[in-house]
Amino acid sequence: MWGGRFEGGPDPLFRAVNDSLPVDWRLVEEDIAGSVAWSRAIERAGILSADEGSRVREGLAAVLEEARSLQAPPIESGAEDVHTWVEQRLTAVVGPLGKKLHTGRSRNDQVATDLRLWVRRAIDERLAEVRAAQASLVSLGERHEIVILPGYTHLQRAQPVLAAHWALAYFEMLERDAERLADARARTNWCPLGCGALAGTGFAIDREALAQELGFFGPCLNSLDAVADRDFVLETINASAACAIHLSKLAEELISFCSGEFGFVTLTDSMTSGSSLMPQKKNPDALELMRAKAGLLIGRQAGFAAVLKGLPLAYNKDLQEDKRAVFETLDELSLVLRVASRVLDGVSFVEERCRTAAAQGYSNATDLADELVSLGVAFREAHEQVGRAVRAAIAKGVALEELGDAELVGICPALDGELERVRPRLTLEASVGRRVALGGSSPERVKEALLRAREALGRAQEEAGSEA
Ligand code: ARG
Repeated sequence: MWGGRFEGGPDPLFRAVNDSLPVDWRLVEEDIAGSVAWSRAIERAGILSADEGSRVREGLAAVLEEARSLQAPPIESGAEDVHTWVEQRLTAVVGPLGKKLHTGRSRNDQVATDLRLWVRRAIDERLAEVRAAQASLVSLGERHEIVILPGYTHLQRAQPVLAAHWALAYFEMLERDAERLADARARTNWCPLGCGALAGTGFAIDREALAQELGFFGPCLNSLDAVADRDFVLETINASAACAIHLSKLAEELISFCSGEFGFVTLTDSMTSGSSLMPQKKNPDALELMRAKAGLLIGRQAGFAAVLKGLPLAYNKDLQEDKRAVFETLDELSLVLRVASRVLDGVSFVEERCRTAAAQGYSNATDLADELVSLGVAFREAHEQVGRAVRAAIAKGVALEELGDAELVGICPALDGELERVRPRLTLEASVGRRVALGGSSPERVKEALLRAREALGRAQEEAGSEA
């Protein structure tokens, strides 16, 4: 391909570090799609005759078929990378005409185009998987609409919340992850082809038409930038890592929740493993791996940013490492999204356990303070009094509402004559029921939120369908 300038062949060790076919083989379909579009562009520019153009495209169709029939990257071809392989095979199929296709094009604009096409499609696939994971969260919430969980801060029981409210918190996180991925896609969707090696091409290429043919928003507007930057890769990795971090947090919570100590949820057998030694064990391995993968994605964020940070314009071979980074990232994101969905579909909340835990730990203390406020006590004073009541209850080993009337009134004088009305307002149901402001955990707000989530998923599905 570049043999003319060289005496003798490359050192095998050079080939080991330089050849990328085993990795970039995954771009073969995009490379051929880009080549088909390029053949039309150079035909329009008068470099290929109409007859040559169609012979090249027939040849590319044959190469595509050959590529699809292969089980593994054709290492034995000796091709340095996927672009070289396609050109080699095209020339074998159509003869010397195949050598005309590369006119005005460089592997630099070619690979940047191929990768953008690939990332664009992969993001669409990941978005569908994010939607599926969100749908699993909504169903989990719908299956457990009335289950009450202890909500935590500092992993200390804080205030009761509905299990569905908990599930929908992750729905919101994934919603923003979907936005970030879509945003990365939007900046990926510009076409470098026609920028040549770095300085642009001297042939009469209609880059607008070329970009349109490949489904891009339009052509990249600076040739140096187009062949040299990979911020679309970095952004995609960043958005993927953010999503993986959310899934890792979810995994961590479910791992705790299914432990004997919490006992809040059970997992379906098919997504857990046993122990070779301890017959009683049922381990949440899938969730643990979901948690671990986030660490690897975070590593790739930092790793790939470091690859880019010192590069002068324009193309440098360092950029070849973009593919492994983004392929592995998107593969792993896909796996954890699908695993999350499957695990969630098998989660059941153990209502009694959740309830008991929510009822313990003085998680109705804020409710009592709020009641005092409604009786005219300043909040800071109410906070102080209820704190003392909690201390008294702890000393007796009872719940707040189990303190006797005289004792409660002794600590919180405003409760005098009010206890008959206030006591029923200290139950779990009353506690979640009063959180009625938008975004809160009251049953009405959560029901609305579940409906809103279902509608949002329906809209996302319609949009994905209309784009495809
Ligand atoms: N395999 C190369 C890559 O992935 C293709 C571009 C090669 N360009 C070059 N100037 N050597 O980046």
